[in-house]
Amino acid sequence: MPSLSSLVLLCTSALLPFTYGYSTISDNTLNSLPGPGSDFDIHTGALLSPILVPRVSGTSGSLAVLQHFVDFFHNTLPEWTLEFQNSSSTTPTSGGKKIPFVNLIATRDPPGTQPGEVGHLTLVAHYDSKYTPKDFIGATDSAAPCAMLMHVARSIDAALTKKWEAMTTDGLGELEEQKGVQILLLDGEESFLSWTDTDSLYGARALAESWEHAVNPAMSTYRTPLSSISLFLLLDLLGAARPTVPSYFKTTHWSYKYMSALEARLRALGRFKSSPNHPSKLARRAAKAKAKGDKKAIKTRKEPAFLLDFNKQDSQFSPWTGIQDDHLPFMARGVEVLHIIPSPFPTVWHEMEDDGEHLDLDTVEDWATLVTAFAAEWMELEGFFDVEKAEREAGGESEDYEKGRRRTTSKTEL
Ligand SMILES: *[C@@H]1O[C@H](CO)[C@@H](O)[C@H](O)[C@H]1NC(C)=O
Ligand SMILES: [Zn+2]
Repeated sequence: MPSLSSLVLLCTSALLPFTYGYSTISDNTLNSLPGPGSDFDIHTGALLSPILVPRVSGTSGSLAVLQHFVDFFHNTLPEWTLEFQNSSSTTPTSGGKKIPFVNLIATRDPPGTQPGEVGHLTLVAHYDSKYTPKDFIGATDSAAPCAMLMHVARSIDAALTKKWEAMTTDGLGELEEQKGVQILLLDGEESFLSWTDTDSLYGARALAESWEHAVNPAMSTYRTPLSSISLFLLLDLLGAARPTVPSYFKTTHWSYKYMSALEARLRALGRFKSSPNHPSKLARRAAKAKAKGDKKAIKTRKEPAFLLDFNKQDSQFSPWTGIQDDHLPFMARGVEVLHIIPSPFPTVWHEMEDDGEHLDLDTVEDWATLVTAFAAEWMELEGFFDVEKAEREAGGESEDYEKGRRRTTSKTEL
């Protein structure tokens, strides 16, 4: 294993608390968000395929997947700080032996900031797989969400660098709110025998407790690493086709609405690959109709929505804490949670069929794009993406609609 970058707590001057900003990004920027290419290929994809193995906590599969994450950040995203948070516990199936649980925390904060002064958009998924059935893969649960988060980190990294360079040059750094991004890849979410308060959420429980007691320097804006989480955005059970994700919590419904609005815009821009109205699908239907000599215009189909609760009203939320998942130990300590988990669960849930072959890769990619767009808005990255580079790359794509779409977009924006 690589060495642990330890968090050095330094003395820091107190700054005033900041309110959170959030700003929408343009169509041009949405169109320029990078896709994953073949990185989600289930056999050879650089991000996803190494995670599609059994990775029960405390096994060599788990260590190999952890190493995959570490290598990815070291090699591709060297500006991110990596930390482990380790714990151990017996489980109902460990015969009295203690099983190690290792959470990986990858953080990117603005340069020159002090611990305790940066609020985090905290993106979360669990990487362990279930102990039973034997050789269970857990592609939606949660290999694909882990790969999505890697893609998100990679997709916003250069824009973060640019933004923070601009802030430093303009001398605006001190005046702006300080926010960073953090990715938690959690261990031990699954139960070993059957779900109870003690046989589940091993990693999340240990991390929430540890962060509650790790106090930042005196006078810090955020008292603990836990209170520096501005939003705990948890992805789980994603990657099956046609998901529907309700808005679970009243206090974060505003953030759900931002993500839902982004989904609608990405669909309208033809960026959602799983959409029945994606340009490639319309073209395919048109070609079929033409082959049959059918001259009728191709009809668009009703556009679905992953996030279907945009219009949910305050009075419609119950105090229910939602589905049992890694957010619980954090929410119990006052952390704001946006839980992106479908209801109903994928039909393959906790079955052997939850493997790479049963993923819908268009849906996987769409989630990755949507969460990237959300992170870009949260981090206020409008103007810091390399739109021209995206256009040059689009020019190299074979599909004509891609070229046409991007050309139209840049024309209207000029
Ligand atoms: C935590 O566990 C990982 C993986 O086994 C190991 O590499 C790391 O050194 C451990 N860190 C600490 C602080 O014990
Ligand atoms: Zn599970």
